Amino acid sequence: MTAQLIDGKQIAEIVKAEVAAEVAILAEQSIVPRLVAIIVGEDPASQVYVRNKERACLKAGIAGDVVRLASSITQSELLDQISALNHDDSVHGILVQLPLPAHLDSMAVLDAIHPGKDVDGFHPENVGLMLQGRPRFLPCTPHGVMKLIQTTGVSTVGAHAVVIGRSDIVGKPMAALLVQKGVDATVTICHSRTRNIGEITRQADILIAAVGIPEFVTGAMIRPGAVVIDVGINRREDRIVGDVQFESAVQVASAITPVPGGVGPMTIAMLLRNTLTAARLLSGQ
Ligand code: GUN
Repeated sequence: MTAQLIDGKQIAEIVKAEVAAEVAILAEQSIVPRLVAIIVGEDPASQVYVRNKERACLKAGIAGDVVRLASSITQSELLDQISALNHDDSVHGILVQLPLPAHLDSMAVLDAIHPGKDVDGFHPENVGLMLQGRPRFLPCTPHGVMKLIQTTGVSTVGAHAVVIGRSDIVGKPMAALLVQKGVDATVTICHSRTRNIGEITRQADILIAAVGIPEFVTGAMIRPGAVVIDVGINRREDRIVGDVQFESAVQVASAITPVPGGVGPMTIAMLLRNTLTAARLLSGQ
């Protein structure tokens, strides 16, 4: 058996077109959603992500600006920048690209973003609302993964979803979305310290790899017929690989996301959707 490929690029295009159409309607009331992304330092991967976000905004009719700051910036200078954007009524969405240089306190930086402009959904108020099942902004990557799972047609109700990874950005919110009422999966969270992890992953009807270790999940760790979602983006000298060893996994799974072209494009599409939501909420539309 060879798995069906889940085409995140194509599904993201559909979401982006929907957002663009809604942005055009909002523009009739002279409201143009505006996202400002802050990037600190020169991390090459982060530079690529931010450039892709900027391009996607412009294509959808969203004003996308990037504030580029030197890695030598102090915590209080960065907080001042965020405060200025919080008070700027023309800005609907604020995003601080992670990871930040080690001398900066990421948690305090994320706490400083106006919760109504927190299009990443990382502010504790938005995390809390999401956990309670009344989200303002769903975190972009887990939301994108939920969309991809939906498109496979596989029912999540009563299914065993195993999430590998416990980050605040993906693993923890991913588990929270899968377990919520209406989705109704039974969720197990594994991570790099989990014992006998293969025994657990082989029980998964839906397996989500977000552990940040290249090709961590092999075909032997996958239950035949499972849906496999690979959130990993790991740079090798010659190519990008996911957290799943694609060549062995594709022989076992029923559906699998490629890397690149799977989850990555969905994250950006969901960011655009959140920026539109922020513009609507802040402008009372
Ligand atoms: N770094 C890796 N993923 C993300 C994301 O979704 N948002 C931000 N701000 N930084 C990231």
